[in-house]
Amino acid sequence: MGEGLTINAKKILVAVCGGIAAYKVAELVRLLRKQTMQVRVVMTQSACEFITPLTFQALSGHPVQTRLLDEQQENSMGHINLARWADVIIVAPATANMMAKLSYGLADDLISTLCLAANCPIYVAPAMNQSMWQKAVTQENLARLEQHGMVIIPPEAGEQACGEIGIGRMAEPVVILQQIQQGFLKSPERVIENVPLDEKHLTTGLLKGVKVLISAGPTREPLDPVRFLTNRSSGKMGYALAEAALQAGAIVTLVSGPVQLKAPAAVLLIEVETAEQMYQAVLSAAPQQAIYIGAAAVADYTPVQVEGQKIKTEGGENTLFLQKTKDILASVAALKQRPFVVGFAAETDQLEVYAKGKLLRKGIDLIAANWVGQKQGGFDKDENALHVFWHEGEKKLAMTDKKTLAHQLIELIMERMNEKNTAKNSG
Ligand code: C5P
Repeated sequence: MGEGLTINAKKILVAVCGGIAAYKVAELVRLLRKQTMQVRVVMTQSACEFITPLTFQALSGHPVQTRLLDEQQENSMGHINLARWADVIIVAPATANMMAKLSYGLADDLISTLCLAANCPIYVAPAMNQSMWQKAVTQENLARLEQHGMVIIPPEAGEQACGEIGIGRMAEPVVILQQIQQGFLKSPERVIENVPLDEKHLTTGLLKGVKVLISAGPTREPLDPVRFLTNRSSGKMGYALAEAALQAGAIVTLVSGPVQLKAPAAVLLIEVETAEQMYQAVLSAAPQQAIYIGAAAVADYTPVQVEGQKIKTEGGENTLFLQKTKDILASVAALKQRPFVVGFAAETDQLEVYAKGKLLRKGIDLIAANWVGQKQGGFDKDENALHVFWHEGEKKLAMTDKKTLAHQLIELIMERMNEKNTAKNSG
C-alpha cells in the first residue's frame, strides 16, 4: 500500500505504551514527519523497556516525556500544555491496561492524564495477545472508549509475537497515518484555525469564510516500482488560485499532485500521487465545499497492472495496457450535495468546441480553457490566457501572469456562483 495523502503542519502527539508493537510506532513517527506534521512523543515506563526514548527523540526531533511528575520535563512542556498543543493524540500501541484506564477516565500516569486533559480527537490503536483482545472485559472497554468519542483503529489478524494466531496485531503504521489524515479531511476548518491568515493579506474579502477546494498539478500513474506516466503540469495555476482564494478570505483545501511549489501555510494541503488518490481526496472533501476548482492535469489513463518488479528491457517492442481513470470533475458535479464546479480544458486545437463539449458532458458550471503545446502560456509557464465558458455566456481573460489571472478567475467564479444562486432562489 502506498503512503497516500499528505496533510501538512498538524501537531500530532504520539503516546506509546508498553507492547512489542512499540517498535512499529518508530515507523509511524517517521511517516508523520515525512508528511511535514509536527510530532511529540510521550511514553509509559514499560514502553521504555521495548524501545528507547532516544529513538523517538531522534525521529521526532524533540525530547520525549516519560513521567507525569518530573520537574525537568514539566519545565520543557507541562502535560496540560502538551494536551492543549496537540491537534490529535494517537495512543499506539494501546495495551489492554491503557484501554481499561482510558475507558474509565483514570489519570494515574502521563498518557492517561494527557488523554483526560485533551480536547482534541484521540485515536487508539490497540495491540495485544489475541485472548486478551477477545476477553469480554476488553471488548466492553473498547465499546466504552467509542462511546466517549475515541476513534479505534482496530488491530489486525495474523501471527503474533507470542506465536499465537488471531486478532491483536497493531494496525500497520501506514493505516494509522491514513486514519489520522481522513480525520483531518472530515473537519478541515479545525486544522485551519491553527494557521490563521494574517488579516492584512485579505485583499477583497469577496470569499470570506467560503470553503474552496482546489486540485492542482499533475498525477503520476506507476508502471513499476521506478517508472510512472505523468504530464507537463507545473501546478502553478492551481497554486495561484489557492493563493488568490485565500486572499479573498476563503477557507482553502488544496489537493496537489507532485509539484516543485510551496503551498501557502494557511491552506489545508493534501498531497497525492495518482489519479485514484486525487479522486478519493477530492470526493471526500467536496460535499462540504462551496466551490470546487479542478485545475489539476489528471491522467486520463492508468496502467491496467502495476508490475511488482522493474519491467525488463530485453526483447523488442512492449505493449502497455491502459484503462480510463475516474473523471473527478464529473463525479463531483454528480454529487447530490455539490459545490459550484469549475473545470479546466487544456487544448491543442478547436479550443471552443472541446471546452463547451466538456462543460456539457461533465455537467459542470464553468470551464476555463487554454491553449497548450504553444510557445506562450499553458503548462509549466508563468503566463497564461483563458477563454472561460459557462452555460449562458463566455469571457476572455487576456494573457497575463498566472497570479493576476487567478484573481480575475476567482472574481468571475464568484460572480457566476452568485448569479446561479440568485436564479435558483428566484426560480
Ligand atoms: O477531459 P479532460 O481531461 O480534458 O478535462 C480537463 C478537466 O477535467 C480538468 O479540469 C481536469 O482537472 C479534469 N479531470 C478530472 N478527472 C479526470 C480527468 C480530468 O477531473 N480523470
